[in-house]
Amino acid sequence: MNAAQWQALRAWFDAYVQGFYTGPARHDAHIRLKQLHTQKVCEEIEYLCTALGLDESDHLLAEAVALLHDVGRFEQYRRHQTFMDARSENHCLLGLEIIAAHGVLDDFEASERDVILTAVRHHGARVLPDGLPERTALFCRLIRDADKIDIFRVVLDNYRRWKESPEGFVLAVPFPDEDTYNPALLEAVIEGRTIDYRELRTIHDVRLLQLGWIHDINFPATLARIRQRGHLAEFLAGLPADEACDRLRRYVTQYVKDRLLLETGDH
Ligand SMILES: [Fe+2]
Repeated sequence: MNAAQWQALRAWFDAYVQGFYTGPARHDAHIRLKQLHTQKVCEEIEYLCTALGLDESDHLLAEAVALLHDVGRFEQYRRHQTFMDARSENHCLLGLEIIAAHGVLDDFEASERDVILTAVRHHGARVLPDGLPERTALFCRLIRDADKIDIFRVVLDNYRRWKESPEGFVLAVPFPDEDTYNPALLEAVIEGRTIDYRELRTIHDVRLLQLGWIHDINFPATLARIRQRGHLAEFLAGLPADEACDRLRRYVTQYVKDRLLLETGDH
């Protein structure tokens, strides 16, 4: 992939998203959220590519994956006024439809088109399917990690803004901010089992799901980024002050420390 293809893709994406701004504050805030998320995921994937020492062409391909990974979100919101796949449709598959309908990748090499489409398709899956070609799997792992880095930011930012001004907050708050959580989810995190979105009932449950991602992070540079930004600490601090959560806090902190020490010598 070359710089001209990247520029053309970027121009298409910007014009495409612009068409979703229709005026109402609540609607436009949701579009802006995903546009900003996309921008940040492009930056995070760039950071990961640099950390992994990938070459210029792979940087661009990874950025193309990042740019398109949530392209289905805009149409999903227009159709259903929600970003919850379980209550609407799978935004990854919708993204593939949008890419095909607009011929976005028509003048890409078949092998690159394949990588991008496969990475978009699987970026939000609970686990990556086995048996992907190694190069395709690399880009799938990159987007899954870059996406997670920024989702930590989005969730923490939104929670802070909602707490400061619930009446001025226009984004959807899909789970009640109750001081309860499902203990089975806490155990799942400690045992390294993934949590399904359908098991979530409260904001604490969402925090547990996201903390569980530490087991699904592919690159140490991702863990280092989340920790260095203070996002892990803020998530852990948001959980209740009980014995089980204290155990979880110790577990997560130690897990990240051990893995960074083992994989990078950093601690
Ligand atoms: Fe997504």
